[in-house]
Amino acid sequence: MGLEARMAAARGSVDATLQAWLAADQGVPERLAAAMRHGALAGGKRFRPFLVFESAALFRVANEPAVTVAAALECVHAYSLVHDDLPAMDNDRLRRGAPTVWAAFDEWTAILAGDALLTLAFEKLAEQAAHPDASVRVTLIGLLARAAGRAGMVGGQALDLASDKRGEPASPDAAHIRAVQAMKTGALIQFACVAGAVLAGAPMAQRQALSAYGDALGLAFQISDDLLDAEGDAQIVGKATAKDAAAGKATLVGLTGAAMARAELAAAVARACAALAEFGGRAAHLTDAARLMVSRKS
Ligand code: IPE
Ligand code: IPE
Ligand code: MG
Ligand code: MG
Ligand code: MG
Repeated sequence: MGLEARMAAARGSVDATLQAWLAADQGVPERLAAAMRHGALAGGKRFRPFLVFESAALFRVANEPAVTVAAALECVHAYSLVHDDLPAMDNDRLRRGAPTVWAAFDEWTAILAGDALLTLAFEKLAEQAAHPDASVRVTLIGLLARAAGRAGMVGGQALDLASDKRGEPASPDAAHIRAVQAMKTGALIQFACVAGAVLAGAPMAQRQALSAYGDALGLAFQISDDLLDAEGDAQIVGKATAKDAAAGKATLVGLTGAAMARAELAAAVARACAALAEFGGRAAHLTDAARLMVSRKS
């Protein structure tokens, strides 16, 4: 199977699990449940779930734990987008080709839907389906909490918005921008990449190799996102474009220009691929996924 087919299979699989988790009639207030479904089920590339499946496939991890972790991670990602789009944050009305959750519902519903998607992820990781061994579940819960939280995605969003809303720091340099991107985007991507090794109880050296891959891939992913904002077509990207510069977002594209950002993206992709050397051809789908960052249009 080629990369596209494997990505489509990952999408189908994680979508089925999310649909089951978010099905009606679970004692959830109807408006909240509808907003959660809107935020988590309406489109999305499912790139992080794909990375969970591929890292799990390296170690022949069974399907149930892999899809449970993949869907839990996607819930955290979906929550991060629901909140990222709020008027108080990026103030966006279009996401995944549809109205954002706050635009389709209202702000309080979007805030609560995000909260509930975040907590649902940890509820599901605590269940047996995530892994038969409770100590592995605890490890995953700790890693995802750290990746999502104050020194991970949330911390990165705080720095991103401090620069956008408060002009702090006054002149963000490339090192600052890379650090913000590693937190706001890299941390969850890195979690996806190491998840398979954790599920398999793989040796620490292999987990570290996947962690290095995820670190470089996270940077590549956010640079390509910023390039799509600067140069992409909103119809294809599925969200508003040409917003970052106007909002004063600190991005490498803004700081160094698109050409230099593209060079840094290529270097990050090369680093990501090099980190997987010890897996040889078994990691071909992961190296293909990294190379996709150079050409993706959405
Ligand atoms: C967008 O993530 C937010 C970033 C971290 C840049 P994706 O580009 O993965 O968004 P979806 O899930 O496909 O909508
Ligand atoms: C958001 O980065 C990263 C998150 C943690 C949600 P962006 O603000 O650039 O993401 P988009 O462009 O809105 O998807
Ligand atoms: Mg943002
Ligand atoms: Mg945004
Ligand atoms: Mg963006």
